[in-house]
Amino acid sequence: MKNEEYMNHRVKHDILETCYGNLETLEHFIAENNDENWGNRLTQAQDVYSWVRKPEKIELIQGSLAHLGEIIKTSAIVPVSILDVGCYGGYVFDYIEKIVLKDKIKDISYQGVDIREMAIKEAARLHNGVSNASFMVGDVFSLQDMFSDSKFDIVFCSRVLIHLPNFEKAVTNLINVSNNVTFIVVKVSNKPDCKKIRKTDLDTGEEMIYFYRTFSEKMLAEVAERKSLTIKIIKCPGGYSSVIFYQKGLCALRSYGGLSRALSFLGSKLSNINCKK
Ligand SMILES: C[S@@+](CC[C@H](N)C(=O)[O-])C[C@H]1O[C@@H](n2cnc3c(N)ncnc32)[C@H](O)[C@@H]1O
Repeated sequence: MKNEEYMNHRVKHDILETCYGNLETLEHFIAENNDENWGNRLTQAQDVYSWVRKPEKIELIQGSLAHLGEIIKTSAIVPVSILDVGCYGGYVFDYIEKIVLKDKIKDISYQGVDIREMAIKEAARLHNGVSNASFMVGDVFSLQDMFSDSKFDIVFCSRVLIHLPNFEKAVTNLINVSNNVTFIVVKVSNKPDCKKIRKTDLDTGEEMIYFYRTFSEKMLAEVAERKSLTIKIIKCPGGYSSVIFYQKGLCALRSYGGLSRALSFLGSKLSNINCKK
């Protein structure tokens, strides 16, 4: 039986306030307004069941999933270990399995993590019996308590950091548990902002406050610089961008024979901004 919460809902979003500025200003805005524990609320109204069944229908992040697919396909490591933080219904696993690997499921080991226990329960139920996908409750701010450093070949985190405070800390945690590729999906803007929004579920009447922030290329490039990583930012048709941090030099080449090739292939196919130092 389907859990109603994970099916399509009719929602209304009212922007209550917008703040523009640099990273410090936006962090301050969130901290000042953070009067609710909004971080662990669901911020998605789409139907999980249809996305698990037909991952080619995951409209919002289809471009980024294609980029992730290219990276997985070029990895020389088999199986590739993938951590998906903020995994919600676990449909990224289904995209990789059905669209990228075309049911050669043993080529990856997938770990989904989400702060919301209900989402993890539902993801685990939907993937019951799948031996190379597992799900656990966890917070992007405490990944270090759950996993050792460099544990995963690829760390993926889509549309989560757009809602959270302490961007620098969250992205550092993701990078620390990654052995090479850290892939985040965010909105990139040359006028970064943070919106405080009231969401009303028109089906249940439930209201919640959440934040929605955007990042400048400069903010993202500065993180890469501090962590001595290379960054690639690729704008996708749906409005989101794939932001890929990866290691330079021999280590990256040995582990991912084709990664550089995949990234230049993606770069030549899509309008991209290479923020390489
Ligand atoms: C907008 S949904 C994105 C789901 C999916 N990654 C996607 O792109 O379609 C945000 C998800 O992040 C989860 N989340 C929110 N705060 C989190 C945190 N601090 N740590 C881990 N997951 C979090 C929410 O429960 C929710 O499932």
